[in-house]
Amino acid sequence: MKIDILTLFEGMFQGVFEESIIKRARDEKKVEISLINFRDYSKDPHHKVDDTPYGGGRGMVLMVQPIYDAVMHLKKENSKVILLTPSGTPYQQKMAYDLSKEEHLIIICGHYEGFDERIKSIVDLEISIGDYVLTGGEIPAMVLVDSITRLLPGVITEESHQNDSFNDGLLDYPTYTKPREFMGMEVPEVLTSGDHQKIEEYRQNEKQRITEEKRKDLLEK
Ligand code: ADE
Repeated sequence: MKIDILTLFEGMFQGVFEESIIKRARDEKKVEISLINFRDYSKDPHHKVDDTPYGGGRGMVLMVQPIYDAVMHLKKENSKVILLTPSGTPYQQKMAYDLSKEEHLIIICGHYEGFDERIKSIVDLEISIGDYVLTGGEIPAMVLVDSITRLLPGVITEESHQNDSFNDGLLDYPTYTKPREFMGMEVPEVLTSGDHQKIEEYRQNEKQRITEEKRKDLLEK
């Protein structure tokens, strides 16, 4: 999979893309991530990318031209263009699965007060990572890349994400490791019983119980 990220702040991605599982996936060429500064596409003599909003109001608005030209330059027949915005479709695990099947993603990170609405004419999907407003689309882009990359073939073992929360509409079961007792808190006995059928039953029941307790809305779906 190839992921192109259009941003004004490439430095924000350092660290996140250069550590742990994402770093390994990049090194092993399971994912190819490029950061593109769309300022480089500005036709303004001073490489301007934003301007004041028509009709007045606060802040600066990202101009359509630099982003439009950058997307047109990168876009191929199989590309999916994603715009990150708090007014997009709420991001969920199912979307991560669907996007992990794509060949090429172009992710546009907004900043400031927003973008010129006309950018939406070249966008396939508008995504929000939650009902709160961030300073820009960079952190949401990292969320997308992380959640999608871990689902790519060979990045982590298939079993690791088969049991993920949300996979079957339920939250994940609780896990424990050594020691067996910590400050008077014991590991549930069934987990040390060696009875795999009982363990499986316990985990399924826990998933149901925890989802009922914390996220009734998931069960209603
Ligand atoms: N940009 C600012 N806030 C955002 C959010 N919650 N989701 C996606 N993009 C954003």
